[in-house]
Parts: sequence; C-alpha cells; structure tokens
Amino acid sequence: MSIKEHNEGQQVSMRFVTLVSMVAALGGLLFGFDTAVVSGAIGFMKDHFSLNEVEVGWAVSSLIIGCIAGAASSGVLGDRFGRKKVLITAAILFIIGSIGSAIPTTFSAYIIARIIGGIGIGITSTLCPLYNAEIAPAKYRGRLVALNQFATVTGIFLTYFINLGIAGYGNDAWDIAMGWRYMFGFGVLPGLLFLVLLFFVPESPRWLIKQGKAAESLPILLKIHGEELAKQEVMDIKKSFAQESGSIRQLFGPTLRIALIVGVGLAILQQVTGINAVMYYAPEIFKETGAGTNAALIQTILVGFINFVFTILAIWLIDKVGRKVLLMVGSASMAVSLAVIGAAFYTGHTSGVLVLIFILVYVASFAISLGPVVWVIMSEIFPNRIRGKATAIASMALWAADYIVSQTFPPMLASAGPAVTFWIFGVMSVITFFFTWRIVPETKGKSLEEIESLLASSKG
Ligand code: BGC
Repeated sequence: MSIKEHNEGQQVSMRFVTLVSMVAALGGLLFGFDTAVVSGAIGFMKDHFSLNEVEVGWAVSSLIIGCIAGAASSGVLGDRFGRKKVLITAAILFIIGSIGSAIPTTFSAYIIARIIGGIGIGITSTLCPLYNAEIAPAKYRGRLVALNQFATVTGIFLTYFINLGIAGYGNDAWDIAMGWRYMFGFGVLPGLLFLVLLFFVPESPRWLIKQGKAAESLPILLKIHGEELAKQEVMDIKKSFAQESGSIRQLFGPTLRIALIVGVGLAILQQVTGINAVMYYAPEIFKETGAGTNAALIQTILVGFINFVFTILAIWLIDKVGRKVLLMVGSASMAVSLAVIGAAFYTGHTSGVLVLIFILVYVASFAISLGPVVWVIMSEIFPNRIRGKATAIASMALWAADYIVSQTFPPMLASAGPAVTFWIFGVMSVITFFFTWRIVPETKGKSLEEIESLLASSKG
C-alpha cells in the first residue's frame, strides 16, 4: 500500500470512528437530559399533584427503577440481539417515556412513563460506552469512554437552560399546570435524533465475530483500521474469545473477584457520595438557602457549567496523572466541601454565597474524579469476553445506589435535616478516598491484558 493510500485509509478511519462515537455520545446526552430535567420540573409537579416528601422522592427515583432493569438486561440482550438493535429499542423506549411523562393526568401514569424511559436510559448508559469500547481502535478507547461522560454533562448543562427557558416563559400558575410537561416533552427531540442516527452506525464487529459472522465484521474493521490491520484484528478477536469462557462463574473466580470489587465498589461509591442529591434537587436545595425560583434555577445552571468545565479538565488529565490520583484528590476535596456545607446548615449560615460556593467546589471535585473515572474503570477493568455482563452488573449496582440516594434524600432532609444529610455524604467521600488508596489499581496506560495480570497478581 502506498503512503498516500495509507493516509487516505487513516482519514477514512478517523472520520468513521468520530461519526460513530458521536452517535454513541448522543446516548450520553439522553442520560444527561433525564438526570437534569426532573430538577426543574419537580417543584412545579409537587404543587400540581400535591405530593408529599415520599412522593417527591418517588417522582425523581421512578426513572431509576427503570434504569436498574435496563442496565440489568442490557448485558444479556446486547449479547443475544446485538448492540445496535438493543440501542434502537432503548431509543424508542426513551421517546415513549418522554411523551408519557409530559402528558399524564395522574401521578401514577407519570410514574409508569418514567419507568419506561428509565429502561431506555439504563440500557444506553451501559451499552453506549461498551459499544464505543468495542468499535474504537485500542489507543482511542479510554478517551472515547470518557467522551460519553462529556456528553452526559453536556446534556445536564443544556437541560438546565431548557428548564430555565420554559420556567421563564410563563408565570408560576402556568409552570405548575403546563411548564413541567414541556420540560419532559422536550426529550422527544434528542430521542428522535438518536433513533434516526442509530440506523447509520454499524453493528459492533466484536459482537459479529462472537456470533460467527466474521465475514460481516470485516468491512467494518476495514473502515476502522485499514486493510492490513483489519485482518489481523479479526484474528486477534477470535483468539481472545477462544481463550476466555465468558461465564458469570468466571467472574467470581479469584482473579476476577478483585475486578468485581473494584468495579462494583466504585459504582456504589460514585452514588452514595451524594452527587445526584445535588443534580436532581439543586433548585430545591438553593431554595432552602432563601433563593427565589429564578435565582435557584440560575444557580443550578452554574452547577451544570462547573460540572461541564471540570469534566473537560478530567478528560485532559485522565491519561496524564492517572485514574487513582484523580479519584483521591477528588474524593478528599468532596469530603471537605461536604463538611463545610453541613456546617453551614448546622450553624444557620446559609444566606449569602457560602453554600453556593462549596456546592460548586463539591461538584467540581466530583467532575474531575468520580464522574468520568468510574465509568472509564468500569469499562477497562474486565476482560474482553466477560466485559458485557460484568459492566452490566457494575452499572446495575450504580443505578441501585442512585435509587436509594434519590429516594431517601427528601425524607432525610425533612427528618434528619440538611446538615446531617451532607455530613453522611462527606463520610462516604472519606471511605471512597481509602477504598481508592488501598484497593483500586492504577490502570493508566496499561493494555487490557496488563490490567488483567495486574489484578491476578494482587488477588491474594
Ligand atoms: C453519574 C451520574 C451523575 C453524573 C453527573 C455520572 O457519572 O453516573 O449519576 O448524574 O455523572 O455529572
């Protein structure tokens, strides 16, 4: 092959990979949309349906029940029917969920719609990073998975603006009657875009080879890697499948047990340190400090902006300083800011900007650490063949922990009070720090096989 042809091949591959990653990133965008939309709507829905504290928790966390189910089934469904078909189904479920949560006349109908949409999000949150990892050339894999988190925070940030725009469109009475419906309904647009674009991306070549359809995978690998590397890649993938059994039992064997502890442990810690108490309820927290509806929504946008900026910083740092340093610095700084926020509520010093500043420090610390790093580690800590099922287990644990936090946050605020609630998140951040320090291996710059042998040598 001449240099010119080779270069052209490289260009084709980069254009192709970029396009495909952008489609997968849209899955992250939907994830972000659904994370943020409820924060703008919840205050109005509370008045519309006259909700008590437990029902407010349920209005927020019903989506997550769907997410747990979606994440749980994503591994098995994705292995059986292929990544692409299952992602298309997820997009349809997301669209149905968006329409359904915009038009309900009863609170129960809203809950059912959120659960349906949640199944879609549970699937995309697990399969999009997996699909990216499987389609990407090895050296772009880490970046592409972190890109997914970038899309998530972009979705959160944009949605805060949409919430503000819609809430500002009418008066309070209109917001309570109609505003929240438009907020949820807006999700149809990114959902449709995702659905249409999915028809233009190929099936995962790794999945095709696993199904014995190597011939179908070759044209896709050709587009990604160019002629010579593609044939080599088919052989490597076949070889890696031949070496691993891929059973769930393998996951509980001594070598992989530690991977499971790290993956599931980090997934749970990412949630019990409280990020979604802030993401889902930020305007309500700011109202507790005395801010009006509009000021609370503007402060929430600031939260989204900081989350966005510090995620970019994390993507830049993750392959330079490593996963472990980011996790330790981030969790330490989260612990300190949570201690201060708790103290501010405890002593009644909540007016002024103190609480706002430390919530921003907390979000920034999460965004450079647990936010992207946990998803990256979850995608790289398990070997090829078991990755689908194992990532689904970790993802399910993450959503289950998210459910518990978002369901208990409003009643805890009402009974134990904000000080104790934020201190509990602070204690969890301290645990995250020690867990990372003692148990999490540094995976920066290592191939998947090196990570595997690293874990094997530390199993005792
Ligand atoms: C978490 C989400 C969270 C988001 C905030 C993600 O990594 O999994 O639960 O809402 O970060 O940016």
